[in-house]
Amino acid sequence: TPTIAVVIVAAGSGTRLGYDEPKAFVPLGDGTVLSTAVAGALGMASAPHLVLVVPDDRVDTTRSSFEPVVAAASAALDVVSGGDTRQQSVSRGLAVLPPGIDTVLVHDAARALTPSLVFDEVAAAVHARNRGVVPALDVVDTIKRVGVDGSVVETVDRSQLRAVQTPQGFPRRALDHAYATARAEFTDDAALVQSAGLAVDVVPGDVRAFKITVPADLRRAEQLVAERTR
Ligand code: CTP
Ligand code: MG
Repeated sequence: TPTIAVVIVAAGSGTRLGYDEPKAFVPLGDGTVLSTAVAGALGMASAPHLVLVVPDDRVDTTRSSFEPVVAAASAALDVVSGGDTRQQSVSRGLAVLPPGIDTVLVHDAARALTPSLVFDEVAAAVHARNRGVVPALDVVDTIKRVGVDGSVVETVDRSQLRAVQTPQGFPRRALDHAYATARAEFTDDAALVQSAGLAVDVVPGDVRAFKITVPADLRRAEQLVAERTR
């Protein structure tokens, strides 16, 4: 039985992408954004317990469409409905984790092309360090802090900055504790865990783990899918 769970949050509406369908259910390659993300998680060295968090009216169809592929990977599957915010959606996913799980990776379906190796590296680092671990990239742009009037206040030292991705991995106990005690909305799970006083490290991310947010991102994703099946 797996001790690693991957919670994939896919309950957002994808307002900025602008499709009628929720973003995770938009076509990508031969499948969807969500099926591509699921393939990344199921490609891990050992099959994780998979939790998919989807819109209310997609729970049943998601369960029946993913059951075969998850079973073929000898993995376990839970499908639950999400909430109004990403944080609520993660929380609902965590609520259904079985007792045996000791490491949890939280992943955005929108980062559909994240290589399986990133999942493995994050999980291995959580095990080795017993801390939160998030994949991150160096920031390539020059970043400036600006005032409300648009005037430049200062140039921020870029060497201290990272752009963080998912999957973000945590010892299960730490993540459960942080979610149980969170009293505000955070922009990622690492921030929520840190607010509970728990440690988080970065490991190298991957450019392919970019988040599909606007239509140009979906075109880039289609291009990458076409390249890798060639
Ligand atoms: N998400 C979720 N539940 C929500 C909001 C977001 O599960 N209430 C998920 C999305 O499905 C996505 C991930 O969190 O996989 C990252 O969110 P984002 O890229 O912002 O997706 P959306 O919120 O769907 O897009 P938008 O903000 O453009 O509406
Ligand atoms: Mg959003």
